[in-house]
Amino acid sequence: MSEEIEWWEYEDVAEMAEAVAGDIQFIVESAIEARGGAVIALAGGKTPVPIYARLARAKLDWKRVTIIPGDERIVPLGDPLSNVTMIGKTFLPAGARVMPIVPQAIADYKAAGRSADALMQDLHWPLDLCLLGVGGDGHTASIFPGPDFDEALNGPKERRMLGVLPDPLPADAPVPRVTLSRAAIVGAASVMIAVTGTAKRKVLEAAIKQGPSSTYPIGRVLADTELPVDIHWAP
Ligand code: 6PG
Repeated sequence: MSEEIEWWEYEDVAEMAEAVAGDIQFIVESAIEARGGAVIALAGGKTPVPIYARLARAKLDWKRVTIIPGDERIVPLGDPLSNVTMIGKTFLPAGARVMPIVPQAIADYKAAGRSADALMQDLHWPLDLCLLGVGGDGHTASIFPGPDFDEALNGPKERRMLGVLPDPLPADAPVPRVTLSRAAIVGAASVMIAVTGTAKRKVLEAAIKQGPSSTYPIGRVLADTELPVDIHWAP
């Protein structure tokens, strides 16, 4: 297990959004100062929406900021399930470069993963930041139990994205996905997790305790890494 997991607790979601947006702003500013640009992966799902609303108002040189979704549901752009559509709504008006990783719905999810992985070669690595969410079932990004679980966790280090068919399909978005691999996530310069609610907190605590044999994907991602990880939590 990572020795450097730090929990940050807030009164409410608004306070968490303010703090996490501030941390991301600092990371992005530092990267721009250091090398003229920043590349960050942002979580999909609903939890980070208030964080993004707050972050998009930050005074940043947004044209130097490339944003990718850390995972994507394989649906057409504009679909309510599309993570990049949600992220783009907030950050495109600010002037950021928001990159779809699945430009069109490809029936073959493995091919979609290979195409996303090829796109990644045009970006600066490692990521300056990977912001993760966690599902109630313990998945993170789109690392789910199923036929691609082992590849997502233990595939070749140079594979940054891959196609995933969750088994079972999650009820709230029952579609195949493309996701960052564990190697790409834990290779990031900063990793942050933002979650809300007691149920997810319990899942995360159990996952961290279980370590490398965790039944939860987030436990497997965080296990055996020296990576400092900030977990931001609000009720
Ligand atoms: C996705 C996400 C995923 C998300 C969790 C939590 O596309 O499914 O990126 O990993 O972070 O499912 O989602 P909520 O914030 O909506 O609970």
